[in-house]
Amino acid sequence: MPTPILYDCDPGHDDAIALVMAHRSPDIELLGVTTTCGNAELEKTTDNAIRVLDFVGASDVPVAAGCARPLARPLVLGTADGPSGLEGSPYLPKPSRGPLKQHAVDFLAEKLAASPDPLLVVATGPLCNIGLLVLKHPHVLPKVKELIWMGGVFYRKSEIITPTEFNAFCDPEALKLVLDARVPITMIGLDVTMQVLIEAPQYKELAAIDTPLGRVAMDWLKFYEKLHRNSMGVGGAMHDPLALALAIDPTLVRTRPAHIGVDLSGSYTFGATVADFWHDRGEEDNARIAYDVDADRFFKLMFDLLR
Ligand code: RIB
Ligand code: CA
Repeated sequence: MPTPILYDCDPGHDDAIALVMAHRSPDIELLGVTTTCGNAELEKTTDNAIRVLDFVGASDVPVAAGCARPLARPLVLGTADGPSGLEGSPYLPKPSRGPLKQHAVDFLAEKLAASPDPLLVVATGPLCNIGLLVLKHPHVLPKVKELIWMGGVFYRKSEIITPTEFNAFCDPEALKLVLDARVPITMIGLDVTMQVLIEAPQYKELAAIDTPLGRVAMDWLKFYEKLHRNSMGVGGAMHDPLALALAIDPTLVRTRPAHIGVDLSGSYTFGATVADFWHDRGEEDNARIAYDVDADRFFKLMFDLLR
């Protein structure tokens, strides 16, 4: 039986790949997509989500637009995806439909309340919508079976890992609301997503997918690579596809419990996610974080779904 999921995202090239994977996977039933600001303004991330779904024949999947800005601070846009938020491919049609009239947060609450069983929620953008869900619809939180979120960074073990991660940095107050509400969150941070980079072997695999989707994905990833290549000298990281892949196969990463604190006032560390594994401050674990990934098995799953 496919796993029903709700997917909150800010497409965004890597969100777009994750969205395609969610639709094409026989192991996932995509109940709905909600959009947030982040990689681009809300109107653009919403258009992009609809364009991607329509392109892969998923025009029946509802899209609800959410927060146009973070909950407690001005919007700082991501810079990897270009002015439209999904630059690089001329083959994507204009959106054939608009989003629902319903706000994303009310859509999420309605779906969670109506579900006979708790649902898996995957989020791959700033947590504006999920944070607002905590504030506006606390009664549905027990119906969140697990929140798999692409966000945060904890070990900072390599020079290609930035001190803060964008989704956390963009709306840290939303993250704190989610953590304080004890939503069962699994955080897929840069520690593992910077281990699944699109390099020559992956481009070779993608080039062999001689379909319209393969060609569009190639266009996307070639554009998406630019920021990573220019700033860190590496290929594009499959941040969001890895997070989404865990809804299909959670064994792709290893996770551990921790107390995660969010820095809301630092200068160099504003928006940082700080892991305390030893409860030095007597605070209970409030998250699970991923610390290892089977990159080969992830890429096999990703390309199998794009093929
Ligand atoms: O830091 C990576 C995250 O920021 C990804 O979700 C990417 O899409 C951007 O939103
Ligand atoms: Ca994203």
